[in-house]
Amino acid sequence: MEVELTAPNGKKWMQPLGLFINNEFVKSSNEQKIASINPTTEEEICSVYAATSDDVDKAVTAARKAFRDKSWKSLSGTERGALMLKLADLVGQHAETLATIECLDNGKPYSVALSENLPEVQNVLRYYAGYADKNFGQVIDVGPAKFAYTVKEPLGVCGQIIPWNYPLDMAAWKLGPALCCGNTIVLKLAEQTPLSMLYVAKLIKEAGFPPGVVNIINGHGREAGAALVQHPQVDKIAFTGSTATGKEIMKMASATMKNITLETGGKSPLIVFEDADLDNAATWSHGGIMSNQGQICTATSRILVQEPIYNQFLEKFKAKVQEVSVVGDPFEENTFQGPQVTKQQYERVLSYIRAGKEEGATVMMGGEPAPQKGKGFFVAPTVFTNVKPSMQIYREEIFGPCVAIVSFKTEEEAIELANDTTYGLGSALFTKDLTRAHRVAREIEAGMVWINSSNDSDFRIPFGGVKQSGIGRELGEAGLTAYCHVKSIHVNMAA
Ligand code: NAI
Ligand code: MG
Repeated sequence: MEVELTAPNGKKWMQPLGLFINNEFVKSSNEQKIASINPTTEEEICSVYAATSDDVDKAVTAARKAFRDKSWKSLSGTERGALMLKLADLVGQHAETLATIECLDNGKPYSVALSENLPEVQNVLRYYAGYADKNFGQVIDVGPAKFAYTVKEPLGVCGQIIPWNYPLDMAAWKLGPALCCGNTIVLKLAEQTPLSMLYVAKLIKEAGFPPGVVNIINGHGREAGAALVQHPQVDKIAFTGSTATGKEIMKMASATMKNITLETGGKSPLIVFEDADLDNAATWSHGGIMSNQGQICTATSRILVQEPIYNQFLEKFKAKVQEVSVVGDPFEENTFQGPQVTKQQYERVLSYIRAGKEEGATVMMGGEPAPQKGKGFFVAPTVFTNVKPSMQIYREEIFGPCVAIVSFKTEEEAIELANDTTYGLGSALFTKDLTRAHRVAREIEAGMVWINSSNDSDFRIPFGGVKQSGIGRELGEAGLTAYCHVKSIHVNMAA
């Protein structure tokens, strides 16, 4: 059920390979496995058991039993919070191992995993641990004949399906509010990157969560994911991933009328007005698309620049890419950009680059593979100019280090271009004009607006989209509403 692994940085650890059900690692019912690949070397790291629909049923049954069991149900919010704080501490103690696993399995730079992703996991757990005894109902005064009050109750068994771009963070965003409210969980990992969260499963047991409260399974989307979404004993599905899969999930979840939260794709605009601080705009707009290998749902992948400063901005953006976007082995200290997560994503990104060229856009930078020592799913940071809003590279989510830069004349035109999309997740704008900043922020059809920054996500602030970018919110106080319902209790005082 475990194998000893050693990473290129010398770290050694025991990697769990099983399905984590009832606080134990077990094989899948037919012993099927999925190989996890290191995207830097294209070699197999290890093979991990993959759940069948029978295994999903076992995990859901465990979660249902745990939901009704006193060991979880009768805990106070304060006690649930204490378990979550313990887990956050354990994640901190194992941060270097977890960052190593993430770097190996996902390809993101070790330094980023350690300095950004691991603190995020702890912050989210601690934030929602703090809420666990502060999320309660109201007394509603309707006069002396009736005493009425509300209580906030957990939804029950939550199925959570996460993607591969932020395996640890996406899990924390889902586990945090769900545990805070007293739910039990079956978390399905992305089959491309299961290793870090299987390691966290050990820490969940060590923290003292009762068996069945958190079950963690690896498995294919169409098999394990679909079984979870359709299981009649699952009360809620929370999903992060592609818009196409999100739509399928909505359809499947309708059969048993499950509560759903969806966080899907984006093609987020970033507007640079002529009065902006261009150095600041170049710094954030570079990070907003090139971080995490461009594999960010809120990536500001469409940059709209006002005409008078268009050429000046291009020069500054180009300089940023040259200075910051160091492509290389993600274990190397100075690497900014590692490989795309899988061969499939690598090919998908390259096919968009081809489409951009065929449709007549200009490749200002990159536009080709960037193998390291002849290996790996690396793509050169790519900047397209002369992009028309009709082009595929302007309309579709590429999910790679590729940006489309276009110019605009007026504020009205910028807003029109920004909103000309089926998505509505993130957005950013750069200006020194305070009133324009707030005015445009209100006009953009998106769940989030960054003024003079981009992708400056924060666990205390709600995250989510409008249009086809999703339903519901994660993070912040708003994230709690996705995991509890309000029960109303009427007491007849005349009885
Ligand atoms: P996907 O949306 O198919 O996969 C995400 C998760 O959903 C994985 O855990 C997968 O196993 C599961 N899943 C897949 N099909 C399912 C089904 N029928 N029922 C239940 N669960 C299912 O995304 P994929 O194929 O890995 O990536 C394709 C594209 O999706 C990317 O190029 C990117 O554009 C977008 N994407 C967006 C993400 C985001 O953060 N919003 C994250 C990952 C991908
Ligand atoms: Mg991998």
